[in-house]
Amino acid sequence: MRIVRTTKELQQQANQWRSNGLTIGLVPTMGFFHEGHLSLMREARRKCDRVITTLFVNPMQFGPNEDLDSYPRSFERDQQMAEGEGVDLLFCPDPSEMYGEQFQTKISLDKVSQGLCGADRPGHFDGVATVVTKLFNLAKPHKAVFGQKDFQQLALIRQLVADLNFDIEIIGHPIVREEDGLAMSSRNKYLDANERKIAVCLSQAIGQAKKMLADAGGSLPAQEIITMAESMIEQHPECSVEYVSIVHQSTLRPMEIADGESVLAMAMKVNNKVRLIDNSPLC
Ligand code: PAF
Repeated sequence: MRIVRTTKELQQQANQWRSNGLTIGLVPTMGFFHEGHLSLMREARRKCDRVITTLFVNPMQFGPNEDLDSYPRSFERDQQMAEGEGVDLLFCPDPSEMYGEQFQTKISLDKVSQGLCGADRPGHFDGVATVVTKLFNLAKPHKAVFGQKDFQQLALIRQLVADLNFDIEIIGHPIVREEDGLAMSSRNKYLDANERKIAVCLSQAIGQAKKMLADAGGSLPAQEIITMAESMIEQHPECSVEYVSIVHQSTLRPMEIADGESVLAMAMKVNNKVRLIDNSPLC
């Protein structure tokens, strides 16, 4: 596996693969790999001749009071794991390589960035859209794989690709869960043993929501599900709800009636310190 730290080298390698008629699959990440990341790499490996994984903790998508400095990092371990999945090239630039002193561009999407995580994290999706645009221009992929755990991010990237005519197929990959249902996330590392145990309330709420919808014959007022999920989260004094929403799976618009096209999307804070998200289609 080749390790590349400069934008120029990445573009040169991508150009060479393209001119040799090889397809490129891109897996953008912020590192500290877990099974969720590895499943994205495997998907790219299955679908493309060459796989590029990027490992960059993107400062532009963190707010001033967020966890940029403490975000878990483990380069040696990540390198071995990516190599184990048959990744051909790992791109791990310094922030100064991605954002030079003269950098002044921001890609900003309108409606899809509003609500849900966008409401709690102002500027976050501008940072995501900007860095993903740069990564597309650097890695020149035919396909790019993103996790469905970041459901709003995936919708934003699909919109970005449509709006700016990127000739890239976006593949959304299902959430990978721990045995008890907790969605895998690099931020789970922040949880102590007790917090880890109660964090499962998000996936339990998803299970309960699916059951309520099935029992109601496939549709019911969204507020009933929202109230149930909020109380499942708030039964733990350590947990506070950031949002619980029922939205349309493709438009992300809030729905009054939950049905087979709905997604339950949630974010909570544990002990006011660890922010966890989860979501699931309710079909
Ligand atoms: O999902 C992530 O890890 C990041 O938001 C991404 C897509 C790599 C952009 O920095």
